[in-house]
Amino acid sequence: MTDPTSSYPPGFVWGVSTSAYQIEGAAAEDGRGASIWDVRCRTQGGVVNGDTGDVACDHYHRMPEDVALMKGLGVDAYRFSVSWPRVLPRGKGAVNEAGLDFYDRLIDRLLEAGIEPWLCLYHWDLPQALQDMGGWSARDCAGWYADYAALCARRYGDRVKRWITFNEFSVFTLFGYAIPWAAPGIVDRAQHLRAIHHVNLAHGAGVDVLRDLVPGASIGAIHNRQVVIPETDTPENRAAASLLDEHWNLVFCDPQILGHYPPQTAAAIEPYVQAGDMARIARPVDWFGLNHYGPIFAKADPARSWGYGWGDAPPDSPTHGVGWAIFPDAFRDELLTIQRRYRLPIVVTENGCGGSDTVSPDGAVHDPHRINYLTIYNAAMRDAMAQGADVQGYFVWSLLDNFEWGSGYGQRFGIVHVDFQTLARTPKDSARWYAELIRSAKA
Ligand code: FCB
Repeated sequence: MTDPTSSYPPGFVWGVSTSAYQIEGAAAEDGRGASIWDVRCRTQGGVVNGDTGDVACDHYHRMPEDVALMKGLGVDAYRFSVSWPRVLPRGKGAVNEAGLDFYDRLIDRLLEAGIEPWLCLYHWDLPQALQDMGGWSARDCAGWYADYAALCARRYGDRVKRWITFNEFSVFTLFGYAIPWAAPGIVDRAQHLRAIHHVNLAHGAGVDVLRDLVPGASIGAIHNRQVVIPETDTPENRAAASLLDEHWNLVFCDPQILGHYPPQTAAAIEPYVQAGDMARIARPVDWFGLNHYGPIFAKADPARSWGYGWGDAPPDSPTHGVGWAIFPDAFRDELLTIQRRYRLPIVVTENGCGGSDTVSPDGAVHDPHRINYLTIYNAAMRDAMAQGADVQGYFVWSLLDNFEWGSGYGQRFGIVHVDFQTLARTPKDSARWYAELIRSAKA
């Protein structure tokens, strides 16, 4: 294994990631509109414990403290998302100045701290008003997204040069429209296919808008990619893994970068594809954003919409505190696969480890499991780089413990602990470890 502290290429970017709905709170303040996640949280069984993002980490009010924490870590960059319903409460039309101001203040504070803002336009919180008009299953949603992208580009493009069109396309479409684990929680094959195509069109339109309006923009999209392994080696599980691999790993990267849908999806999606669409989708981007945690185990599940379901990792596999498999070799291999298949510089925009960390009597938060995970995954990244993967940055998920979607506040991924009663922040041992990794990597 390559020593994770051995030399990194010049300009390698070290960062931390968050997303708006998971940390901001202030859900009903200063004119913010409702998102599909506000509605999901109020739906019976939508989120464990009935947790909501109403307060979350209260980052909306504690943003200066959070930027100071990042400065203390010594990160180069902060990846955050803009809440679409905070700046356009009904998704389109009337703009909410107070919402736009919040991100002005955040961006200015980051720049003062010497931290580069990386702005993600979409991390799953579609305005509910647009969902009421069909959401991503409506073709018009691509145009609504392009108008929202233009608003952000005009407002922030003087200071923000790193732009991300979407976070994890396949997670929010698959879990939003086929396996109902996320908002809007619909199960419908046709709507799933339409959502895939319209999100791809939105991405392409977003790239065009950003190129036009932001001089010097460096534009990427974030894909979660994980090898899909049949739970056991049967023909049914192999077929399930093959279709899930398309829906999870290929139906966004391939059209956006290679200009075509993968084979099983190409025929199914054809009714929704209009002349010229593939050229609208395949707009050149500058880098490939990879979110990666561990492999997926698939099994045939005839009760599910597409006949596949989530299987279990082999019983002896090491796992995180939240049950995800720890397979650093799969991370190394994924980086190499992406390099060969898409030939773009890669930025690891999320990697991290969940658990149920608590504050110890000594006042510290000891999280050796996370330090271990981050150490071996960084070593796997270094191996991939030594074998030719052009990795240009690495962002830990996440700066703060936060609202972990359907799992609520029970799963903690932060390198900074948040007490959800008092909202006090306590850097964990992993925060100190990460600061030291950054320091030594730059030495
Ligand atoms: C990713 C999401 C992120 C967070 C981590 C744990 O899939 O992008 O918001 O939930 O998983």
